[in-house]
Amino acid sequence: MEVSYLILNGELPDAEQKAAFDREVTNHTMVKEPMLRFLDGFGTDAHPMAMLTGLVGAMSAFYHDSTDITNPEHRRISAIRLIAKMPTLVAMVYKHSVGQPVMYPRNDLSYTGNFLRMMFGTPAEDYQINDVVERALDRIFILHADHEQNASTSTVRLCGSSGTNPYAAIAAGIACLWGPAHGGANEACLHMLENIQANGGLAKVGEFMEQVKDKSSGVRLMGFGHRVYKNYDPRAKLMQETCREVLSALGLENDPLFKLAMELERIALEDDYFVERKLYPNVDFYSGIVQRAIGIPTPLFTGIFALARTVGWISQWDEMLGDPEFKIGRPRQLYTGYAERDVKK
Ligand code: ACO
Repeated sequence: MEVSYLILNGELPDAEQKAAFDREVTNHTMVKEPMLRFLDGFGTDAHPMAMLTGLVGAMSAFYHDSTDITNPEHRRISAIRLIAKMPTLVAMVYKHSVGQPVMYPRNDLSYTGNFLRMMFGTPAEDYQINDVVERALDRIFILHADHEQNASTSTVRLCGSSGTNPYAAIAAGIACLWGPAHGGANEACLHMLENIQANGGLAKVGEFMEQVKDKSSGVRLMGFGHRVYKNYDPRAKLMQETCREVLSALGLENDPLFKLAMELERIALEDDYFVERKLYPNVDFYSGIVQRAIGIPTPLFTGIFALARTVGWISQWDEMLGDPEFKIGRPRQLYTGYAERDVKK
């Protein structure tokens, strides 16, 4: 919550501001009940990102009291609503996919604790929050909260620059995040580890790395490389530490996928192919293993990323609209084709 406040307002809150912010966010955690019927329209095999894009887009239909995007107070209310409701929506999507009843939010819990309970609690029994897991997920949320002009944030800005509804702009960002070169990389990374494991595990790591280095194979080492970080993704260091904490707290130190990940990292950091191209692990390399250990299913990883990134997206949207020089975005296209062609007879 402190980080969300900082990203939205540019300063950390004092105790009074923090309490007021917490209160406001927790007051907006429920979603309109008709959203549940909308959710029911999806098959249980729908990809969580498909459902999430639809649900967040659908929120545009509900909040007519705050649609004046030129009004800073309206923009603030939209931001609070999105930050507060994303955990509820992500948990709803999960519950739908496993056929369990949706858990309503509980406002006496922390932001992350409430999300864990909505995900893994059932109406049949009390849910006990594990402190290590809560802290790990909180860290994942913080590390993913904002990251300047990545593809999805630029998408939110460009979409929002037309003056569209904020929920529509965030839905566009979620759609962009879904792709495997962006937010979908942690899902792709875990699939990669599972495939190596299924095909012989540690003994086959060398063979897999040869495939990665062979351009004609089309295989990439997922969770490695970054458009901007050409030295080391600082988030990856923290995620590696968190990964160890979670696996130890849950008694999963011998998790074969974690061992595989460590071996892939070791080889890659020593191999000329990766060293010359400055390819290091990115945040997704470890975050998938942490999420898997917590019990989050692989197809929901990008949904967790979307939840975390919402505060960054909406703050960037607010900053853009509050700029006195704000204009609709219009990337230039330089046409280099024919000047004229005849209609074919
Ligand atoms: N595995 C193998 N080779 C790679 C990898 C990789 N993961 N990433 C880059 N390379 C190679 C390329 O083939 C290229 O080699 P070349 O110079 O011989 O042609 C060179 O390294 C540079 O690659 P680019 O694609 O130009 O690097 P770019 O900065 O454009 O791409 C990207 C960055 C998309 C992240 C890329 O590294 C990649 O596909 N990584 C795997 C997917 C991934 O983990 N994405 C998560 C990004 S982080 C995030 O979204 C939170």
